[in-house]
Amino acid sequence: MRANHFLLFCIFVTITIVVHAQGQSGYISIDCGIPPYDTPEDIVTKIKYVSDDPFITTGVNFNVSKEYGYPKNPVLPFPLGDVRSFPQGNRNCYTLTPSDAKGNLYLIRASFMYGNYDGKKSLPEFDLYVNVDFWSTVSFKNASDQVTKEILSSAESDTIYVCLVNKGKGTPFISGLDLRPVNSSIYDTEFGRNVSLVLYKRWDIGYLNGTGRYQDDRFDRIWSPYSSNISWNSIITSAYIDVFQNGYWPPDEVIKTAASPKSDDDPLELVWTTDDSNAQFYAYLYFAELETLGKNETRKIKILWNGSPVFEAPFVPSSKYSMTFSNPKAFTGSNDHLISLQKAPDSTLPPILNAIEIFTAQPLDEFYTTIQDVKAIENIKSMYKVNKVWSGDPCSPRLFPWEGIGCSYTNNNPQIKSLNLSSSGLQGPIVPAFRNFSFLESLDLSNNELQQNVPEFLADLKHLKLLNLKGNNFTGFIPNSLMKKLKARLLDLSVDDQNLCNSPSCQDKKKNNMVVPIAVAISVIILIVVLVIIWIILRQRKKGAYSGSLLPSGKRRFTYNELSSITNNFSKVIGKGGFGIVYLGSLEDGTKIAVKMINDALGKPKETSSSSRASNQFQVEAELLLTVHHRNLSSFVGYCDDDRSMALIYEYMANGNLQDYLSSDYANDLSWEKRLHIAIDSAQGLEYLHDGCRPAIVHRDVKTANILLNDNLEAKIADFGLSKVFPEDDLSHVVTSVMGTPGYVDPEHYRTFVLNEKSDVYSFGVVLLELITGQRAIVKTEEGENISIVHYVWPFFEARELDGVVDPLLRGDFSDHSAWKFVEVAMSCVRERGSTRPTMNQIVAELKQCLASELDREPQRQ
Ligand SMILES: *[C@@H]1O[C@H](CO)[C@@H](O)[C@H](O)[C@H]1NC(C)=O
Ligand SMILES: *[C@@H]1O[C@H](CO)[C@@H](O)[C@H](O)[C@H]1NC(C)=O
Ligand SMILES: *[C@@H]1O[C@H](CO)[C@@H](O)[C@H](O)[C@H]1NC(C)=O
Ligand SMILES: *[C@@H]1O[C@H](CO)[C@@H](O)[C@H](O)[C@H]1NC(C)=O
Ligand SMILES: *[C@@H]1O[C@H](CO)[C@@H](O)[C@H](O)[C@H]1NC(C)=O
Ligand SMILES: *[C@@H]1O[C@H](CO)[C@@H](O)[C@H](O)[C@H]1NC(C)=O
Ligand SMILES: *[C@@H]1O[C@H](CO)[C@@H](O)[C@H](O)[C@H]1NC(C)=O
Ligand SMILES: *[C@@H]1O[C@H](CO)[C@@H](O)[C@H](O)[C@H]1NC(C)=O
Ligand SMILES: *[C@@H]1O[C@H](CO)[C@@H](O)[C@H](O)[C@H]1NC(C)=O
Ligand SMILES: *[C@@H]1O[C@H](CO)[C@@H](O)[C@H](O)[C@H]1NC(C)=O
Repeated sequence: MRANHFLLFCIFVTITIVVHAQGQSGYISIDCGIPPYDTPEDIVTKIKYVSDDPFITTGVNFNVSKEYGYPKNPVLPFPLGDVRSFPQGNRNCYTLTPSDAKGNLYLIRASFMYGNYDGKKSLPEFDLYVNVDFWSTVSFKNASDQVTKEILSSAESDTIYVCLVNKGKGTPFISGLDLRPVNSSIYDTEFGRNVSLVLYKRWDIGYLNGTGRYQDDRFDRIWSPYSSNISWNSIITSAYIDVFQNGYWPPDEVIKTAASPKSDDDPLELVWTTDDSNAQFYAYLYFAELETLGKNETRKIKILWNGSPVFEAPFVPSSKYSMTFSNPKAFTGSNDHLISLQKAPDSTLPPILNAIEIFTAQPLDEFYTTIQDVKAIENIKSMYKVNKVWSGDPCSPRLFPWEGIGCSYTNNNPQIKSLNLSSSGLQGPIVPAFRNFSFLESLDLSNNELQQNVPEFLADLKHLKLLNLKGNNFTGFIPNSLMKKLKARLLDLSVDDQNLCNSPSCQDKKKNNMVVPIAVAISVIILIVVLVIIWIILRQRKKGAYSGSLLPSGKRRFTYNELSSITNNFSKVIGKGGFGIVYLGSLEDGTKIAVKMINDALGKPKETSSSSRASNQFQVEAELLLTVHHRNLSSFVGYCDDDRSMALIYEYMANGNLQDYLSSDYANDLSWEKRLHIAIDSAQGLEYLHDGCRPAIVHRDVKTANILLNDNLEAKIADFGLSKVFPEDDLSHVVTSVMGTPGYVDPEHYRTFVLNEKSDVYSFGVVLLELITGQRAIVKTEEGENISIVHYVWPFFEARELDGVVDPLLRGDFSDHSAWKFVEVAMSCVRERGSTRPTMNQIVAELKQCLASELDREPQRQ
């Protein structure tokens, strides 16, 4: 059945096109409220109508009630017998797409008759808009009142929207909608096409007969008879008058009749009133001489508006062609408007008038939504088949934006600022179109059936402050980039926890996050592992503390042959530390890794006989390290331990270590904000080692060379685990004797040989000072002296001279408040006495405040 209808519809459309080709070219004639396949013809005008089905997706069809409709009312004009009504949504729009519309002028006419179609006997009042601009208010005196609205509007694009807006005064409806192309060279105003002309009156003066529209009128204007309480003389001609010359093309029956005052000296006057003092009227007056004048006769006409001449000179109507005059400046003001046609002093004949049109100018003062936002929202509308009344422009008119959409109108073209698609039945993944709302501040996608991952690109929405994803079926992880914004309190994020894994350890298991390090720094961990092995061999001592296999699913243990293939036969060296050469490798899924070969460093192959126990121990320790996960700790992803070699495998970090980065050319682009992010990231990594692990892990070699940066400049602490590998007791002084890097070592530790978390805090303070100053931990002074960065900064700190401290590469582009606080935090870390230094926990909190005050500065900078 459906298929049949569709077929029928296609056939009728074809017919319609054929019919239109015969003189209704470019016309769109819609009988609103008829079934889709119906194509009635107006028997009076012979205009072919179509259903509104292809032009609008919303609304409900009705016939007017019997007492108003056919056949009871045989004189009911077409197409008023049926209506389409819009109970849903506050703005419903017809989409008209005449070919080549852009820049062309159109006459658009909408007709209405209530006819108690809904049986409620209640007259609605609603507004009409063309595109984004107000057109008119539609109201009715009674159920049989026939209301017609007409506008001359220039198309700003190839799509023309005609919208019905519900103002809360009853359900909008429409009976008919016509669009007619009009020659664009006519109906100009002092504002060009910056205004639309809404028809106020169109009168055929001296009317005799005819419909005054299509077939007679090329543009299908409707000329009404003018009835005056003053009786005028009628003039009529059958002579030829050229109506084409000036482009206005009045119909013959209109131009060939005219009126003149009964008495030769009387003026011909037309009056109308308005109570809208802002109304701007334009009148177009049509003249043609219809009488044959004698030799001694002249007709010269003056036009006055409210007593003042509209044109300087009087004019003589031509008997050959029609002339059209309009006021160069709008008639404005409330009260009466009186147009008076008077005989000029040297005229022998009284004035005449053939026809007149009066329009009010409707300013085009709303702007279309930014095109990028429109494309994105249209894409979302179609991808999810959004079940909302979304038609016309999303943001404009501003009083009636699309449901669920909030816009910013501060710039010319409005932008979508908030999008509430809560409980809208959305299914499938979050589509990329969301990324294109550059000004989006709030996105509510709660209570839908959205699936798959929460996409990373949501973090690209710079202005996004609120994101609600609750009540969906997402899987996977919240991307790091979003978590980062969340942690920096830049984003208010709501998600369900049951489907999504949000814990730091989960985060690191996520494949995508296996972004990883050029682990170039001296690998203390390797040293330690090696030491452990040797130590184990020597002491033959067994540790029981960390027994039990913790190898999670997924391959973590590799053979030498596998490493060889992963590293493409050890072809690319990316680093060389004291204890191992580091090779670049790539896993099957493309994840890049860094492989540290330990026996390379030992300079000889493993001795299989004596090392089997060591090997066991190595495995235990390696497995242990595999269990420590935090997004700010560089991931140890596997190891190799077979008879040919021992190796440790790390995530590869594209941007190398912080020490190298700070002294590279890239440092020029390292803004204050980025430095703060790096500081916060590394602080969080250390905080996790200190507070998140039981027992706490003291890093013992915190330095910029051990802070690695991935391609997003997210920082991760590398080579932790030193103390984890060693038992607390015996080895501590052994380790301390080899531990630490000049410039970073806690001075208290020199004195007391105690190494605890506060030693890491000291070293971290040095790292912070490097980030602030761009200097190394050991600074070479102008005198050629090597001093610690702490001593270098101290005098400036005492004198509170920020300029002396902060890296000149920043060129002062930072918040002083943020910078000073940062310096204070760093200096508190390097206090002499460990007990007076802050904990990593406090440091993280303080650094976040630094970030917040830097970000507060943002808006002022732009
Ligand atoms: C309106 O009336 C016509 C014929 O009288 C009928 O075919 C059509 O289904 C009616 N439409 C509605 C919406 O009731
Ligand atoms: C309805 O209003 C129109 C316009 O004012 C008027 O011409 C007509 O007579 C009215 N009809 C009824 C039935 O009141
Ligand atoms: C129409 O508006 C545009 C932009 O607002 C303006 O540049 C132009 O001068 C206006 N034209 C007239 C005739 O007022
Ligand atoms: C209209 O009036 C003119 C002049 O009286 C006449 O020639 C013409 O036939 C009339 N047309 C119609 C449709 O009645
Ligand atoms: C014609 O009507 C207007 C107002 O509608 C009135 O002011 C004027 O006096 C009337 N003229 C005559 C001649 O009745
Ligand atoms: C519009 O009117 C002008 C002036 O009469 C004429 O030159 C032009 O050809 C007309 N354009 C169209 C599309 O009819
Ligand atoms: C014009 O001339 C005609 C005769 O040729 C005469 O009847 C008429 O009164 C004259 N009109 C005027 C205004 O002089
Ligand atoms: C989003 O923007 C990109 C780049 O500007 C564009 O290529 C793409 O088509 C846009 N997508 C949508 C759905 O608007
Ligand atoms: C979105 O709309 C829902 C229901 O209309 C409402 O409960 C929720 O508060 C809205 N969300 C936002 C962010 O305003
Ligand atoms: C979404 O999850 C709910 C609860 O787990 C389940 O009932 C529903 O079927 C899921 N929907 C889809 C589309 O997977």
